[in-house]
Amino acid sequence: MRHLLDRRVLFFGGKGGVGKTTCAAAFALAASREGRRTLLVSTDPAHSTSDVLETALGPTEREILPGLAGLEIDAAREARRYVNEAKSRMSGLFGPAVLAEAARQIELASAMPGVADLAVFDRMSDLVLSRAGGYDLLVFDTAPTGHALQLLRLPDLLSSWVEALTRRRREGLEARAIAAGADAPGARGADPVLGILEARSARLSAMRAELGRADRVAFVLVLIPERLPLEESVRAAHEFSEAGIAIGGVIVNRVLPDAASGGYFEARKAQERVYLEEIERRLPPVPRALVPQLESDVHGLAGLDRVRACLVAESQPRG
Ligand SMILES: Nc1ncnc2c1ncn2[C@@H]1O[C@H](COP(=O)(O)OP(=O)(O)O)[C@@H](O)[C@H]1O
Ligand SMILES: [Mg+2]
Repeated sequence: MRHLLDRRVLFFGGKGGVGKTTCAAAFALAASREGRRTLLVSTDPAHSTSDVLETALGPTEREILPGLAGLEIDAAREARRYVNEAKSRMSGLFGPAVLAEAARQIELASAMPGVADLAVFDRMSDLVLSRAGGYDLLVFDTAPTGHALQLLRLPDLLSSWVEALTRRRREGLEARAIAAGADAPGARGADPVLGILEARSARLSAMRAELGRADRVAFVLVLIPERLPLEESVRAAHEFSEAGIAIGGVIVNRVLPDAASGGYFEARKAQERVYLEEIERRLPPVPRALVPQLESDVHGLAGLDRVRACLVAESQPRG
């Protein structure tokens, strides 16, 4: 999958346990070895990038090797920050009575499911849109497919919501201005709430537009040659294409090597061949990489190097 080395943002996703973290870390390593300044970002609440890389990573970027840095987004921390930011923004806008009530509402809302996702998405947007740190490539190790999809679809879901809020606010302001006999457009221009909503909306559209840039952003599906991961990947491929996010490659991990022989392995390999053929047929026609089942689990740079070599091998079977 050498063709993905020149992208700016890659998401690695798939069912739990198929090797997303391993492949994301190995690809990030490959990119950094090719001279691309790379940041590996884990958005999975059950982070394991630190374990795979044998380097303690946290909520702020940390260098792993020259040209390779890592970061694990802490959802609870981001949610807290998100809520505090919302509070401080409001403090300039309203009187103390309204503020006390609003702060209470925000506290309540902060415990709602979804707020942590929103906060994580905000942090991802910051990384993608600001390109702070001057990285050439961001590699996201995502949570299992359903969750990743939900996150990446947030701009679509949220923008209609923000638009509706903006419309209500504008109508309210206009009604108030008319009642006061003032010029509605003048009142609209100075409204700080509208300002915040509009800034929010602009950021969402920017992220939406960026995610749709197939030349810069791609999702890499990771799976193993078994029934359930295959079905889930087929569904995910469909949903990503509906969401306008390009699938850039497919990694089939843990394929039994030719060297594995004997009755037990022959039976498993026969079953694998059925799934490999299905993977060829049912997943989008994008480059594939096959990674063999290694004799031990993968951690540390030496282990990752073996996976890295498979991911950026020169000759890749194409779908
Ligand atoms: N090709 C492989 N050969 C052997 N072990 C592997 C291989 N790929 C992944 N593993 C092991 O499988 C486990 C799950 O991999 P991981 O990357 O954490 O999956 P995910 O992030 O999808 O949950 C880890 O212990 C990892 O070392
Ligand atoms: Mg993982």
